[in-house]
Amino acid sequence: MTGTVLATASVHTPSIGARLSPAGGVAITGADLSRPLPADLRDATLAAFREHHVVVFRDQDLSKEEQLAFTLQFGEIEEHVGRHSAAGRYGLVHTVTNVDEDGRPTTKLSAVGNYHWHTDKSYHAVPSLMTLLHAKELPPEGGDTQFANMAMAYEALPEDMKQQIAGLRVVHSWAASRRRAGAPPPSDIEMRERPPVDHPIVRTHPETGAKTLYIGNHASHISGIPETEGDALLSDLLEHATQPQFVYTHHWCGGDLVMWDNRCLLHRALANYEMAKYRRILHRTVVTGTVPF
Ligand code: SIN
Repeated sequence: MTGTVLATASVHTPSIGARLSPAGGVAITGADLSRPLPADLRDATLAAFREHHVVVFRDQDLSKEEQLAFTLQFGEIEEHVGRHSAAGRYGLVHTVTNVDEDGRPTTKLSAVGNYHWHTDKSYHAVPSLMTLLHAKELPPEGGDTQFANMAMAYEALPEDMKQQIAGLRVVHSWAASRRRAGAPPPSDIEMRERPPVDHPIVRTHPETGAKTLYIGNHASHISGIPETEGDALLSDLLEHATQPQFVYTHHWCGGDLVMWDNRCLLHRALANYEMAKYRRILHRTVVTGTVPF
């Protein structure tokens, strides 16, 4: 791959490639994420993250412990939602999979919501900043992840729509999200721990200053306008925002570690693989963000 060489002082020679799609994405090869990142590579990674929103590190083979250590170089780690998550030290590195308790592939997914467009933990007052997903086992074909660029989507809105939505706030709710995705409802105690919250429908990226649409499957309704009108608006915006020109589709390669910016992207898993036949296993860590404004 041709690209910008980032460091030369080791066996590994990290290199950053060209943008992967108009909507975003960039790949870094030759990095060894199992060791602390040299300062120049960390800076280059963060610059690539700001510019391309999805950063793909190729050819990694990180244990959960190594992924945890890598993630901590970018901020505070967020716990997984729900009382069913694995307890203990590696609860912070959780497994995204289609595998049942006996290790067999299944179509009965526990995290069915991942297959709907969403931005991580937008039902929290302080939602996720960065999510990292590391491929451990992949189907031979498909099992892609898609990312939709919400800054491009906002920019492309007609002026009158920008004015119509300016100042609106959206209620994000874990319960509503699970209902919509066909998942079992959260328990009362889980709901008490995570009551619905509202956020601006147009958020400003705290680092780039770009205005982005902050919507997706966790967006339950719009505050202060009739529910049916709000639902129609949310659904029109989602349809607009996830058009192909705003989307980067990541076709996973073994060893990929992908990090993405939840402040300006929606994402979803694609069920475009033989889910009942092949295992798809990825390890996820999440860095906590700041209150949207
Ligand atoms: C996620 O939504 O965090 C997981 C996406 C995927 O499984 O591709």
